[in-house]
Amino acid sequence: MDLGIKGRAAIVTGASRGIGRETARQFLEEGVRVMICGRNAETIEKSRAELAAQTGGEVHGVVADMTQEADIARLVQSAQQTLGTVDILINNAGQMYSGRFAALTDAGLKEQFETKILGFLRAIRLVYPIMKAKKWGRIVNIIGGAGKEPDPYMFGSGITNSGLLNITKSLSTEFGEDNVLVNAVCPGWVATNLWQRNAQGLQQELGVKSEEEARRLAARKNSLNRFGKPEELANAIVFLCSERSSYITGVSLNLDGGRLKGLW
Ligand SMILES: NC(=O)c1ccc[n+]([C@@H]2O[C@H](COP(=O)([O-])OP(=O)(O)OC[C@H]3O[C@@H](n4cnc5c(N)ncnc54)[C@H](OP(=O)(O)O)[C@@H]3O)[C@@H](O)[C@H]2O)c1
Repeated sequence: MDLGIKGRAAIVTGASRGIGRETARQFLEEGVRVMICGRNAETIEKSRAELAAQTGGEVHGVVADMTQEADIARLVQSAQQTLGTVDILINNAGQMYSGRFAALTDAGLKEQFETKILGFLRAIRLVYPIMKAKKWGRIVNIIGGAGKEPDPYMFGSGITNSGLLNITKSLSTEFGEDNVLVNAVCPGWVATNLWQRNAQGLQQELGVKSEEEARRLAARKNSLNRFGKPEELANAIVFLCSERSSYITGVSLNLDGGRLKGLW
């Protein structure tokens, strides 16, 4: 299927690995020109070079910390300079802030807020006028299931994720008349470095002795009884940015193998 976005310009934040990197790769396969960012110069350049070699596409990299307003401004400016415009924004850079109420700290919550609320909002603030002027835009926020179904172990992430769902819906309503579509995806457990970094905590939370057992128990909550792969997330993210998704806005798609059992 031709997704109809060849030649479009996309920013993918947090694309040195994981879901962001795979999303960038699939955009490049579709002929989209891509700007990626991450906080580490070495890994972002390595990722950029590998993506270019794999796909033959046009991909640029910038070192930017999405908790820093000046870095976000530099990222968007670089995209405008090198790609000429911005048609697509994937707000992906982020962490998981796991742990129960007793583990929550003000500093931890502030950092989570800087990354997954202000980081997303600031990027949207800068790209929206560009998209509005062209009457074409796609914004996808990568959120997480704890925003829809509170989980005591995901207390910190759940707070910001719920806010992001509200932001997504509200902006989709406001930007609709400009043909700027705003959607979200809510990943469940995806086999990335993020899961690896949280494996020990989840092991403790589930009261099991090995990482393998923790993974098995976590996966069992999913109807598909397994973790997701980054490419399975990217498939849906890229589709939401395509010409084929022209009548979809304000949705938050659960990409969790059937983890959430509620009706939304
Ligand atoms: N994997 C899951 O199970 C899961 C579940 C629910 C939601 N999510 C969400 O999905 C998104 C991607 O997760 P992932 O699993 O792909 O994680 P990952 O493998 O850890 O990759 C995260 C990417 O974001 C970058 N990054 C992190 N903080 C950043 C910041 N402040 N500024 C710029 N770049 C930053 C990282 O590079 P540097 O560290 O080099 O900056 C890396 O490239 C996150 O927003 C996460 O919350 C993931």
